[in-house]
Amino acid sequence: MMPIFFSRLQMLSGSPTVCVIAGDDAAPEVMRPTVEILHSLAPDIRFVEALCGREALEHYGDAFADETREKIDAADCTLFGASGGPSRPVLWYLRWGKETHVNVRPVRWHTGCHSPMLHPEYIDYVIVRDNLEGMYPPREGDVRELGALTSSKSWWQAPPLEKRGAYAVRICTNEQMYRLAVAACELALYRQSAGYPGCVTLGAKYSILPRTDGCFRTIVMETVGAYPSLSYQEFLIDDLARRLIAAPETLDVVVLSNEHGDILADVASGSIGGLGLSPSACYGEHYAYFEPVHGSAPDLAGKGIINPTAMLLSGAMMLTYLGYTEQAERLKRAIEQTYSEGVSLTRDQGGSGSTMEFVDAVVESIVSMK
Ligand code: NAD
Ligand code: IPM
Ligand code: MN
Repeated sequence: MMPIFFSRLQMLSGSPTVCVIAGDDAAPEVMRPTVEILHSLAPDIRFVEALCGREALEHYGDAFADETREKIDAADCTLFGASGGPSRPVLWYLRWGKETHVNVRPVRWHTGCHSPMLHPEYIDYVIVRDNLEGMYPPREGDVRELGALTSSKSWWQAPPLEKRGAYAVRICTNEQMYRLAVAACELALYRQSAGYPGCVTLGAKYSILPRTDGCFRTIVMETVGAYPSLSYQEFLIDDLARRLIAAPETLDVVVLSNEHGDILADVASGSIGGLGLSPSACYGEHYAYFEPVHGSAPDLAGKGIINPTAMLLSGAMMLTYLGYTEQAERLKRAIEQTYSEGVSLTRDQGGSGSTMEFVDAVVESIVSMK
């Protein structure tokens, strides 16, 4: 059965409402055509746009106005482009305000995608990343303040209180590590029913950080142990980084802390062909939002060449969440077909097509499937 957080069909009554927040820099260039395609696939979904960043500042005098928060709250979920800075308060609200605790980032190569790997056909796993704790959001301060911490007396090295500098705090609560572990197991179980090995891989620095990563390791190991059909493997995070490149075929569901997942999701994305291809979804108990792994790609803004695949696939994850599984599959198949035909691909994929040429090819493929 599909994990409960993957599909909220049971919670919905009537047609769903989606809040659309385009984001900064080049993000609106992929959001606009994505919403058009999603609308054509599922015309009964109500898409409600909310302003963010600079536009919101000009319109409301506030980068994150009450109107935007209300639209997020009133919707069944949010589709988010990316923040290049100005929209960061919106992103913060979608994560911590809505408590979307697990970030699911599928890593799968498709024929025609421009991977630098020799055998990308074996890359097919999912990163399950902590979306709420660890090093983000920032909790930083002056290094001299650390003298007040009782625990600092037993640290292997005393804090350099006499020096000028700063610290950052990393938080790992048992509750969050446990619900992340459960999400990883539920996902592994679901994938197992589709023929995947049912293996949860933990990556962390448990050798050096017993209270945080050590505890994360214990919680994930014990949680997987409660699922008799699943297997467990663990690697120190630096070794796991190597394995993403050297042995991706050994991975199924990979569970990671917030900052490790942030970094390794980009590495994983690079292995399949780049950030233009990688979708993501952030699920909570009561809300979800969908955004690509990539950022606002300021270097591409205004050029009309940004790859919309990651945004489109994030939209497909949203369709699944809302119960439109057939439409989600159709969109994914159309994208796969466009890549295997290899015409109209964007520059990051070795083509010369524009964003809209790629979108038109996907639309044509959807139409030809009817
Ligand atoms: P980025 O992901 O925006 O871009 C990194 C590189 O990948 C750039 O060369 C860019 O051109 C390329 N790229 C990204 N998306 C692409 C796409 N769809 N098609 C083709 N190429 C693509 O990361 P960055 O440059 O490090 O950060 C830019 C801004 O985005 C920063 O302000 C950062 O904080 C923000 N950011 C936001 C999110 C988010 O909102 N969730 C995620 C990552 C980065
Ligand atoms: C991501 C981004 C964000 C993160 C930033 C913008 C806070 O890099 O979604 O991967 O680190 O989570
Ligand atoms: Mn990132």
